[in-house]
Formats: sequence, structure tokens, C-alpha cells
Amino acid sequence: MKRRAIVLCFLSMVWILVGCTDKPKPVLETDETEKPTLLDENHAPIRIGFSMDTLLEERWLKDRDLFKEAVEALGAEVEIVAASGDDALQISQAEALIHSGIDLLVIVPHNAEATAAIVHKAHLSGIQVIAYDRLVKNADLDLYVSFDNEQVGEMQAKAITALVPKGNYAFIGGAITDNNAHLLKQGVFKVLRPYIERGDINIVYDQWTEDWTPVNARANMEEALRTTNMQIDAVIAANDATAGGAIQALAAKGLAGKVPVAGQDADLAGVQRIVVGTQTMTVYKPIQMLAKEAAELAVAMAKGEIVTAEQKVNNGKIEVPSVLLTPIAVNEHNLDRTVIFDGFHSPEDVYREVAE
Ligand code: BGC
Repeated sequence: MKRRAIVLCFLSMVWILVGCTDKPKPVLETDETEKPTLLDENHAPIRIGFSMDTLLEERWLKDRDLFKEAVEALGAEVEIVAASGDDALQISQAEALIHSGIDLLVIVPHNAEATAAIVHKAHLSGIQVIAYDRLVKNADLDLYVSFDNEQVGEMQAKAITALVPKGNYAFIGGAITDNNAHLLKQGVFKVLRPYIERGDINIVYDQWTEDWTPVNARANMEEALRTTNMQIDAVIAANDATAGGAIQALAAKGLAGKVPVAGQDADLAGVQRIVVGTQTMTVYKPIQMLAKEAAELAVAMAKGEIVTAEQKVNNGKIEVPSVLLTPIAVNEHNLDRTVIFDGFHSPEDVYREVAE
């Protein structure tokens, strides 16, 4: 038991400095099933609130399950709510969590700006807030845990320019309300800029995709094909959901597999398209690392420890202490030793389309 408590104290990564406040130390208790329970200063179980934007995409289901598992493994409890992309609902759900007496709030914002109100309300109740994967803008956020989203865009553009160094590019962006969509776009254009300046690459289409949905991405891609008379040599889509929509539009014109397409998330459908050749690459973000890191930091902070990260990300109001994990570019050549090796997807699922 003592050893377990010590381990919990040193859980965070090397680049995080954890100190202690005056708050009484939480205790670990073992119930009859031997599952440790972390208690706060009121001798109540430590409870983390997890306010999610949506569960309508594959990756967020993984995030939900892995985060819950990681928090519970640390002996704390977690309350999870999801807002289905509705800003007002996300705010009211978070308010309900705050009023229910959670010790800390972790949030995946649907709208980077609107959720600043949640951070403010949580602080009024003495509750710290961690932004998970997506940044909350213009708020006194306590911590941001994510992947390097600019690097995701750079990886996409590097992979596609290696195949298509000259030609007409369509950029199918993410949701304008999501800060990650902006960071990804910065990364993409950082790599494309010299090609554009040399006149080698023309950006013939560049639009955001409302709520990142495949149906909106498909409509964008159809517009791109129509307005260019189908003169498109490469597509960079902000994630696998939007890549899927774009590929449907390409397929309708007999162009799927002929025009390179980039995505991100290593969604099962995305990696299956890589196997059959309609999608060129994806960017794999090991969500198990993100969930574990966020859970460890959330529990440490809920216990009253001071967590400081070396990296900082400006959210328009403050320099937010941040932990940014490294994404991995994935194509047909390294699928097995990344996504499959990690158990993110099974080989049976990944190769199902070609096996049938
Ligand atoms: C995430 C992506 C995800 C997208 C749509 C972004 O904020 O970083 O992984 O595909 O949201 O849900």
C-alpha cells in the first residue's frame, strides 16, 4: 500500500514538475475488492469531471474509455458527459459537474472560445481545469494536454509533397471553432509555403469543414472538383473523417486512389483506405498515452499537487502550461509497426477489406 502511494506521487513525466500545496494529503483506501480508492480532504472519493464535445467519432470513444480506465486505475472516480457538438449543452453539462462537487474538470471543448465561460465558472468554485486535446482560448486555463497539432499538419504536407511536388492542391480543413484545426492548417502551410512561392503548388481550394463531418467534407470536395473542372492533384484533409468524405467525392468522379489524400487519427476506416489505396497517409496519435498522461496529471492536481509543464501555449490570454505529445505519420509501409503493433487496431480489422 505504501509503495503504491509513493508510485502515485511520482507518476508524471520527467518534464513535469510536481510540487505540493498546503491541501491535506489524500489517502488511499482499499475496499474489499482490493481496488484502491483515492480520498480527498473530506474523506470523499476524488472525482474528476470529463466534459466531452462529442462521441460521434471513433477516436473520442477511445478517449472516453481510456481516460476512464486510467483515472480509475489511479483510484479516483470519473463522471463523463458529452455534448454532441452543442455549445450551450456543453456549458450546462459542465456547470452540472461543477455543482456536483467534482475535484477537477477535464474538458474537450467543442468551441474553443465559448468554453472559456466554463473555465471561469469552475474557478469560481475552486475547481481547476485541464484542456484535453483541444485548447480553450482566452481563459485562465490550468493545463493543456494534447499532441503537437502543428506537427500533424507538417507531417501531412511533407508526405503529400513528397509524392506531388508540383500541382493543384485542395485543403479540406477542420472545424473553424476548433483550435486544433487552426494549428494543423499552420503546419500544413508552413511546409507548402516554399512550394507555393516557387509557383510549383497552387492552392485551388481551401475551406473549413463545419464540425469536421464527412458529409460537409464531401460537399467541400465536390465544390473543389466542380470549381476546378476536376483539376486536382492532391488533397490534404484535416482528419480521417473529412478525408473519408473527400474520398467519397473523388470516388464519384472515378478519382479515388488516383489523387493522393492525407488525413489524421488512424481511424479504422482511414487505415483500411490506406490498405486499399484510396487514402495515402494518416497521422497516428497514440490516444492511450494522451489519456494516461491527462489522467495522471488530473489526479495529481485534484490531490492538491502543483503541476507545472515546461512547454507553454498561448491561448490569447495566458501562456498555458502544456504537455504536447508527438504524433506519428503512418502509411502503408509502417502500418504494421505502429498502429497494429500498439494494438490500436487489430490486423484482422485493418486488412479486412483486402482479405474479403
Ligand atoms: C482532434 C482530431 C479529431 C478532430 C475531430 C480535433 O480536435 O485533434 O483528432 O479528428 O478534432 O473530432
